Amino acid sequence: MCGIVGYAGGKEAAPVLLKGLEKLEYRGYDSAGIAVLNDGKIEIAKAAGKLQVLRDLTHEGQTVAGLVGIGHTRWATHGEPSDVNSHPHISKSGRFAVVHNGIIENYQQLKAMLQKKGFTFLSQTDTEVIAHLVEFFYQGDMLDTMIRLTNELEGSYALGIISADEDGKFYAMRKDSPLVVGLGEGENLVASDVPSLLAHTQEVYYLNDREVVVLSADKVEIFDTNRERLEVTATHIDWDVTAAEKGGYEHFMFKEIMEQPQSLQKTISPRLQDGRIVLDDFHITADMLRNVSKIYIVACGSSYHVGVVGKYILEQSTRIPVEVDIASEFRYRDPIIDERTLMIVISQSGETADTIAAMREGKKQGARVLAIVNVLGSTIAREADDVLYTWAGPEIAVATTKAYSTQLIVVDLLALKFAELLGRMDEAELAEYYRALQALPQQLEQTLADKEKIQYWASQLYNKHSIFFIGRNLDYAVALEGSLKLKEISYIHSEAYAGGELKHGTISLIEDGTLVFTLATYQPLVEKIRSNAEEVRARGAYLVSVAVEGDEQMQEVSDVVFTVPRTLPLLQPSLTVIPLQLFAYYVASQKGCSIDQPKNLAKSVTVE
Ligand code: AGP
Repeated sequence: MCGIVGYAGGKEAAPVLLKGLEKLEYRGYDSAGIAVLNDGKIEIAKAAGKLQVLRDLTHEGQTVAGLVGIGHTRWATHGEPSDVNSHPHISKSGRFAVVHNGIIENYQQLKAMLQKKGFTFLSQTDTEVIAHLVEFFYQGDMLDTMIRLTNELEGSYALGIISADEDGKFYAMRKDSPLVVGLGEGENLVASDVPSLLAHTQEVYYLNDREVVVLSADKVEIFDTNRERLEVTATHIDWDVTAAEKGGYEHFMFKEIMEQPQSLQKTISPRLQDGRIVLDDFHITADMLRNVSKIYIVACGSSYHVGVVGKYILEQSTRIPVEVDIASEFRYRDPIIDERTLMIVISQSGETADTIAAMREGKKQGARVLAIVNVLGSTIAREADDVLYTWAGPEIAVATTKAYSTQLIVVDLLALKFAELLGRMDEAELAEYYRALQALPQQLEQTLADKEKIQYWASQLYNKHSIFFIGRNLDYAVALEGSLKLKEISYIHSEAYAGGELKHGTISLIEDGTLVFTLATYQPLVEKIRSNAEEVRARGAYLVSVAVEGDEQMQEVSDVVFTVPRTLPLLQPSLTVIPLQLFAYYVASQKGCSIDQPKNLAKSVTVE
């Protein structure tokens, strides 16, 4: 969704803003713009389309002079993608410019009020009301104006604002939309995400809701809504600039697929200590766990698919009932929650609006919330009772791969820890799992080494119009992810089904040549899924299977088989998903799709 960058320092702001916005492209956008403050005047350049349009318009930022500025990539919510709807938006007099990420829910009331006061609107956006509102409230004190905004605006916002009356500085604040402050040397910044800051600093401050930050080249001041100055405590980010760069790969997605063995290693290593699982600061005792009557796993998209894996493995390893919910459904379905509920929220970004809302609902009703999150300091990470970070590093491609894989590992570790606490696995079994976990990165490496074979078959099958994925139990959970991966980047219609469910309706769609991916890696049910594979094959399906090495029988019933190494059943999804990620990637590549930024999609869905 929208991205924000703000800069105050010794360099020309416009090129810095363009570079910063480039690092936010992954979020998904359809227009871009900048506003630069120079000698008491604000200059704006903005345009619909990709960042390159803005680059050309401003000659790489050269034509817009000034050392302070704000920039924006817009993912349209109110009003079509167009030049006029692009941010920044300017107030009536041209003295204030605003960039905004989020949705102002009461913008129509505010707009009507402002229109009565003589303000006219150029755009269809909710953001333009903020620009006029700032001008309406401003009586010589920007801090007061910002605080006043927090009282008037309903909904979510991350804001960057410059005032022609205040040279050398800009203002920012947030509520329910991400915004990070970068603390540099002789320059200070804000951005929607850390990769935009890394070229300048690795010291950041995660802004809290309704905190107002005033930034100039050599000062960062943060105030609460009572005008009390707050301490600026820096967090050091352990990534360097290259972590968020392609490093010679054609696409971030491919780089991130290939990085998975290392990501898994980073997620596993610190948590396996002296033959025991240590879950960071998440301390839960056997007694506490015995008191848990129900576990809810709540998430969206691929994170939800990790939750589906979680349901299977947590129920198996704890015998505590687990429900897995899509966050946007959970928040409105009046779920039955009490103090004996453990809620696990899963989110790569930690900023997904529906997941945040579901988490808050759960907390309000007394659940203990454990978050599995990738982005340090994100809203979910800060509001949950406990956090387990996935340590996947920055994930830039919209289609998640390494974040999904590391989430899976954290869920595995959790299931094993719970089993240990509840005495549901003996020492020998646990030791076997620890060994298997340690071997996983190497097995994943081995799976990735088969990529040419998958690339070849993608080149043969990329022109299919509809593809089915079937599996049972954990393979069904992985089928959901394989299908989503394919849909989001290759735009091929695809559906995932539990193997036994197909014959209850959807099998009517199977005809000669229909491509069906059969996931047959969950050992306890391989025989069953093989029968389901036979059923679709008998109706003409072209069968590509994913099976574990040495499974001769899947070879017999399939047209093509991708093999993955065998591991213990609960860990198998980490390997089974790899051929599906690669297949989606190569199909999209063959079709010439925009792999890292698929159409209509945003990396972090910060609106409902
Ligand atoms: C997956 O490839 C998607 N990008 C999407 O489904 C994503 O998993 C979902 O939007 C949830 O995001 P989160 O993990 O950041 O909460």
